[in-house]
Amino acid sequence: MNLKITIAKDEKEFDRIAAWRIIGEMLNNAKAVIGLSTGQTTKNMHALVSEIYQSHPFDVSDITLFGLDEITNVPREYDGACYTMIKTQIADALGIKEENFIMPPTYSDDFEKECYLFQKALEDRGGVDLQVLGLGTNGHLGFNQPDTPFEQETWVSKMDEVLEVRVRKETGITDKELGGLTLGIKNIMHSRKILLVAKGDSKAEIVKQMLEGPISTDIPASILQLHPNCEFLLDTASAKYII
Ligand code: GLP
Repeated sequence: MNLKITIAKDEKEFDRIAAWRIIGEMLNNAKAVIGLSTGQTTKNMHALVSEIYQSHPFDVSDITLFGLDEITNVPREYDGACYTMIKTQIADALGIKEENFIMPPTYSDDFEKECYLFQKALEDRGGVDLQVLGLGTNGHLGFNQPDTPFEQETWVSKMDEVLEVRVRKETGITDKELGGLTLGIKNIMHSRKILLVAKGDSKAEIVKQMLEGPISTDIPASILQLHPNCEFLLDTASAKYII
């Protein structure tokens, strides 16, 4: 299989390449629908997009930003909520209008309906032009953990234990069930373009399995081997077992 793999020489180059992929999409398509991922891997690239935009502003009035996933039953204003991360790291700096910033809510009486509405809002805009994806150390994409069927559409999955412990500790929430509302694997695969980003030693083993292992629900990200327009952006640390 001929996969498109880019290996950055250091973190700076990694962030620069990713930031310019996002900005490039906006410049190429003034109505681009761009999906972002949160976490340590994407934090600095979001900051860099904001920095570049602020020194060289351009028209983003018709750009749509959305988050791939969200934690349920926490306040949106919680630092670890995807809404707050994307808003503070990138959406506010670019002045993305509220109606062009699509995020599922963190609270609802009917999450099944919210999943449908979230997915429909993206479809109504013509689908996703660029989806940026982080990579879990177990191969998860969004909140799609191992064993999630590849046909899965937007749903609320169980959060992994480590993240759940952290969220409970940081928010003090003990009495509510926490979940991960996420686009499903099927939705992710329907994106016109994907940028998978993984950096650091801790991702090296899973990067190898994602790229060289069998395509299997054991490693959700392995399905990306079949996407016709996916770039895998790595640094030398995360790529150490494939080079
Ligand atoms: C969480 C998010 C994912 C993200 C992943 C990677 O699990 N739900 O969307 O891709 O973290 O996080 P990090 O970049 O911090 O490793």
